[in-house]
Amino acid sequence: MSGDSWFTVRWEDEAVALIDQRLLPSEERYLHLRDVEAVALAIEDLVVRGAPAIGCTAALGLALAARTSTADTPEALIADVDVAARRLARTRPTAVNLFWALDRMRTWLANAAAGGASAQVLRDDMLVEATELVDEDIEICRKLGAAGASLVPDNARILTHCNAGALATGGYGTALGVVRAAVEAGRRVSVLADETRPFLQGARLTAWELDRDRIPVEVITDNMAAHFMGTGEVDLVIVGADRVAANGDVANKIGTYGLALLADAHQLPFYVAAPCSTIDPDTPDGGAIPIEERGREEVADFGARPVVPDGVAVRHPAFDVTPAHLVSAIVTERGVARAPFGASLAAMLRPACGSSAGS
Ligand code: MRU
Repeated sequence: MSGDSWFTVRWEDEAVALIDQRLLPSEERYLHLRDVEAVALAIEDLVVRGAPAIGCTAALGLALAARTSTADTPEALIADVDVAARRLARTRPTAVNLFWALDRMRTWLANAAAGGASAQVLRDDMLVEATELVDEDIEICRKLGAAGASLVPDNARILTHCNAGALATGGYGTALGVVRAAVEAGRRVSVLADETRPFLQGARLTAWELDRDRIPVEVITDNMAAHFMGTGEVDLVIVGADRVAANGDVANKIGTYGLALLADAHQLPFYVAAPCSTIDPDTPDGGAIPIEERGREEVADFGARPVVPDGVAVRHPAFDVTPAHLVSAIVTERGVARAPFGASLAAMLRPACGSSAGS
């Protein structure tokens, strides 16, 4: 997994450093971004993607904004950071971790400034706070993985969609974190990775990082999932999430809803793995989750090759919503939540009794 030999996102050489996920698996190249606009464009262009990784990148982006600000008072520094936060908030609307990370960093800055710190101290400490957020994300994924590993039997054949791995988080992954934890617990598993049209996160990214870890993985096109469920070659489905509404409805990469319906039809468990920062208590249900619409070219072109005639329109919702009744369980760093999700997720988000929400 990410760590010694590669990483998804970190602070390096006074810059936000990202592996360029657009180039994987052909090329492992790192970008070092030194201004907030470059960070915002990297999120928009899917250099970095995956809800928790977007949150980590945004936190480091705000630390970058503070470090490059020439403000000499805390008030002026806060104003500069607010401008950066507004720009980063406009990058992608669905992944709630983005807004969670921006809020956490802005709240931290306001509190530290109220405590009397100088602009220079705030600049330095804000970077510490952002790097802690990234480190915590990895730790959270490990706890989530350990909580979910019990759902994975020996010899499990696991179907996953998109990439909810180390590349989508600070490291280790959510859905793939559960896979990794099951492997670390000694279970033999194999993964079927949906290719995930149109950006091919499954074919390019999930396959790349599992192969690096020597975890058996086979790529299938999205329209093969029903076939493999029908032939009995899938034991369970596990996916990540971009936003979980208070009632347990789950927004995730387009195609997830279809998989959940297929899993239901074949009586297979459909698990969602996501940190608590992906649960949005302010969004009552899936209908209130903003769904990002992306551009034509990702659908109309396959790589550099056009596959849709010029002048013919395309549709491109980047996410869909899986209703809670199709979800068998939601795994977080605090345990495994089951229906009724309104109650189990609310308990999970209460710090004092979060651990009692597990089943
Ligand atoms: O468009 P993307 O690649 O950012 O979409 C990512 C997903 O849908 C992931 O499944 C989700 O963010 C969970 S990542 C742990």
